[in-house]
Amino acid sequence: MVSPDAMLKRSNTALLLSAVFRLGGSAVVAFMFIWTIWSSFNPFIPTPSQTSHTNLRRHDTTERNFYDDPTLSYALGSSPPMKGWDEKRQEWLKQHPSFAAGAPTRIIMVTGSQPGPCKSPIGDHLLLKLFKNKVDYCRRHGIDIFYNNALLHPQMFSFWAKTAAVRAAMLAHPEAEWIWWVDSDAAFTDMDFLPPLPRYHRHNMVVHGWAHLLREKHTWTGINAGVFLLRNSQWALDFLEVWASMGPQSPDYAKWGQTLSTVFKDKIFPESDDQSGLIYLYLREKWGEKIYVEDEYYFEGYWLEIVPTIENITARYTEIERNVGALRRRHAEKVSEGYARVWEEQLKGKEGLRRPFVTHFTGCQPCTGNHNQMYSGDSCSNAMIKALAFADNQVLRNYGFMHPDLHDPSIVIPLPFDYPA
Ligand SMILES: *[C@@H]1O[C@H](CO)[C@@H](O)[C@H](O)[C@H]1NC(C)=O
Repeated sequence: MVSPDAMLKRSNTALLLSAVFRLGGSAVVAFMFIWTIWSSFNPFIPTPSQTSHTNLRRHDTTERNFYDDPTLSYALGSSPPMKGWDEKRQEWLKQHPSFAAGAPTRIIMVTGSQPGPCKSPIGDHLLLKLFKNKVDYCRRHGIDIFYNNALLHPQMFSFWAKTAAVRAAMLAHPEAEWIWWVDSDAAFTDMDFLPPLPRYHRHNMVVHGWAHLLREKHTWTGINAGVFLLRNSQWALDFLEVWASMGPQSPDYAKWGQTLSTVFKDKIFPESDDQSGLIYLYLREKWGEKIYVEDEYYFEGYWLEIVPTIENITARYTEIERNVGALRRRHAEKVSEGYARVWEEQLKGKEGLRRPFVTHFTGCQPCTGNHNQMYSGDSCSNAMIKALAFADNQVLRNYGFMHPDLHDPSIVIPLPFDYPA
């Protein structure tokens, strides 16, 4: 396959060569002069930077693929349903070879919030901080991010909206192997850590939870559906259809509410919800055998458990930095993954004092402010501010600054050379 860019380049070169032969050697110098002038004004002659690898990526092939199928729908519940997605994705990758390298580990993060303004006066402020946190994490690891704040399916409100956004993202990003859904109220609190993707090579979905607890007790809190990795696959498209069929747009919504309330005795409200639906499917072999329930690290952790440990973790990390000069070296943000590997060596066997990877502010509802009555609104927003400042310190470090007080992120101080020797 020849890309349009490469074809253009080839025809320009052929044109140049035939002209040179016709004109003869004496005219070459004059011709090169005119060529240079012409090139600089002719927008169709690619400059060296335009023919680079990255630029080829911006051009589509003229070959037909699944996007040309008029029956293709990005929506859930489409008819006819998508079939043969794995083959269609592979064909697209073959047509776009610059994306084939690295495809098995490529991730697109999808997150989002409601279309309208938040009811809580600080809701939009908190959502912006939570989004900044995800953007920082993605930039450090070369992950693309899509923030969706449109209700793609009008009846799939609240926690059901993610299923529609994730499906659309799968079709929009055939180059990505994994779609990483992260709820708006979850924050990355270890900016270095990356999920160990090879561990999940036999699975199509990764969630946080306790598999034995789910099998023995059918507990509603055994998995949290706020963060998940979903392999861009026909399996995932089928799974999303089944999962979403328990949602409010389905004629069986009320029936699912009853079924799920019967199965999960600890479920706190009678309506069908994404979390109990996910656990219900996990407990069915057909789906469960492809879902990895991760409990070795905080793929997603409960903020009430995590936030009180932040001071001790900070002290532990500072102590390690005092002892390991390599970790104190200033460096470009782009090479921070190399320093993450040095951290890994230092943290081996010290799992208890590792930065928690993702902190989920379950029950805090930063946008509406309708937090769970178990906590005060202040405890939620204070915990969020503290956790986000803790994460931001890991980012600001590369920019030469830090928040000395995690409770007041408006203050920053410059970091001295060789901090914290
Ligand atoms: C922090 O460390 C101190 C001293 O080791 C310990 O007493 C305390 O319980 C720890 N706090 C938390 C929240 O883990």
